[in-house]
Amino acid sequence: MAPTNLEDNPALQAPKRTKPLFSPGIDTNQALVLFVLGGPGAGKGTQCANLVRDYGFTHLSAGDLLREEQDRPGSEFGDMIKSYIKEGQIVPMEVTIQLLENAMTSTIKEKGDRKFLIDGFPRKMDQALAFEEKVVPSKFTLFFDCPEETMKERLLQRGKTSGRADDNEESIKKRFRTFVETSMPVVEMFEKEGRCVKVDATKGPEEVYEQVRAKFGERDVQPVK
Ligand code: C5P
Ligand code: MG
Repeated sequence: MAPTNLEDNPALQAPKRTKPLFSPGIDTNQALVLFVLGGPGAGKGTQCANLVRDYGFTHLSAGDLLREEQDRPGSEFGDMIKSYIKEGQIVPMEVTIQLLENAMTSTIKEKGDRKFLIDGFPRKMDQALAFEEKVVPSKFTLFFDCPEETMKERLLQRGKTSGRADDNEESIKKRFRTFVETSMPVVEMFEKEGRCVKVDATKGPEEVYEQVRAKFGERDVQPVK
């Protein structure tokens, strides 16, 4: 499963850059990024949909982009992505960062939108550091805090219809472990830097969204309608 010299792959140039592609903001040559983190099943996707509707963000889910690339005919990364996802492991950052950057660049080009929610990323310290150094520093991270028991119930429920290869007990267990061991240190780093907005994600979607709106207000992120 170990990737072979991804760093030399000409399709993956983003992590090589010496300074960020964008500066933070919504003007020319800028991009405004909020990271959205939380364990699997914490409700990231659901809340992102609300934020897209009310705040005018473009939603980019790292997991969705990886699944899309996995299924793209002719992708040289398809098999690798598939095995990482099945095992609940983090795909090497070069691939994920390039997919995110490509999605951001094409959104800016096609729609002129420069406000992004990057959901399910960064899930590992190297992704966090490389993305902020090579693409753009994030404004803050929205973190959905939820006990595993609740997340597991939601995932098994979702698994009945999601068709996802990793919404089963075995994969869920692995994803939880990866989240605690690999992703939580990233959340804690942003917390220490005062760049983490933490929300209790145990309640229903409406109540969680109320908290999100209130905390965005405190950080001066305003709805567009
Ligand atoms: O966020 P989501 O649950 O859709 O992610 C599914 C899987 O995609 C993760 O368990 C992981 O294998 C992979 N992934 C990753 N790096 C990310 C986001 C997702 O490797 N930043
Ligand atoms: Mg998701």
